[in-house]
Amino acid sequence: MQDKIILRRLDDMHCHFRLDPLLTEVLPVTAQYAGRGIAMPNTRPRAILTRNDVLWYHDEIKRVLDRTPNRFSFEPLMTIEVRDITTPRIIINAWQAGAVAGKAYPLGVTTNSNEGLRDFFSPKISETFKAMQDIGKPLLIHGELDLERTLVTKREDVFLPTLLKLAEKFPNLKIVLEHISTKKAVETVKQLGKNVAATITAHHLCLTLNDVIGYGIQPHNGCMPMPKDFDDRDALIEAATSGNPKFFLGSDTAPHSREKKECSRGACGVYSAPVLPQILAEIFEKAGHLDRLEDFTSRFGANFYDLPLNKDDITLIRKEWTVPEQIGSVVPFLAGAKLQWQLVS
Ligand code: NCD
Ligand code: ZN
Repeated sequence: MQDKIILRRLDDMHCHFRLDPLLTEVLPVTAQYAGRGIAMPNTRPRAILTRNDVLWYHDEIKRVLDRTPNRFSFEPLMTIEVRDITTPRIIINAWQAGAVAGKAYPLGVTTNSNEGLRDFFSPKISETFKAMQDIGKPLLIHGELDLERTLVTKREDVFLPTLLKLAEKFPNLKIVLEHISTKKAVETVKQLGKNVAATITAHHLCLTLNDVIGYGIQPHNGCMPMPKDFDDRDALIEAATSGNPKFFLGSDTAPHSREKKECSRGACGVYSAPVLPQILAEIFEKAGHLDRLEDFTSRFGANFYDLPLNKDDITLIRKEWTVPEQIGSVVPFLAGAKLQWQLVS
């Protein structure tokens, strides 16, 4: 039995680094093992909407990295939020400031999406998507819709026709359907062209809805999209470990303080960064595909974004440990659980 894994530094293509004070707490955790991480733009009080926001957020992140002992070689990849008001000019300026992608949150489906996109097909936003297609920069989509008489567990299903229509209307637009949670989403992404990919989180590979509401309400497993059924989880594990380059890591590590999670109308988001490579190693090993872990964590995402592969490695050893109940102000994913692989620094 293998007791050591040497892995190319990860590319975590979906991270919520937040703003200070959380930024200082959580960024060094991802920087320990990732070479790059995509910084999601749904920050508050200041969201990342323009070139100036991109430059400012990049500086905020760099400032924290500079204060981090052993800052490693971590590079944040910046994004802007695409709203109804986002013009082609805003997009082009943001790319010139270093943004690698635009992220669209449909209105009202997740944390800080109260000014999200209302219409994916308005003439104005179509111009913007066309500009993204022309420059070759990806549109990242939170693929859920909050429709009338639609349960939270069906929000991804009802988004998929929008994805199909977008892919048809913009055949060369790079699209990433983020944090997919259903078998249907896996199948839909598979059937589309090479320009359409999906990220998969570690927690959607572990959880079903039972782990959120089936045994008492477990707020720290609550996230959007909600974890679904067993068949959905099986399909996600199959997709992640299959060696299909359309599926790569985006952890959606989404820290919220304990108080913001353990209350009425608690925030959605799972803080998976402190256990990410460790739990992925466990999942891939159980699936009999440890040999494909690096493709998922460190190759397919880079290829999709046209980035060179990270150069450095990290090492995991087989040694049981218990995930702390709390790290700083946040309860991590799998708090109190025993994991089999440890990250050695
Ligand atoms: C994310 C957050 O907290 O910012 N929450 C979540 O439940 N996943 C936002 C998101 O990616 O949907
Ligand atoms: Zn997210």
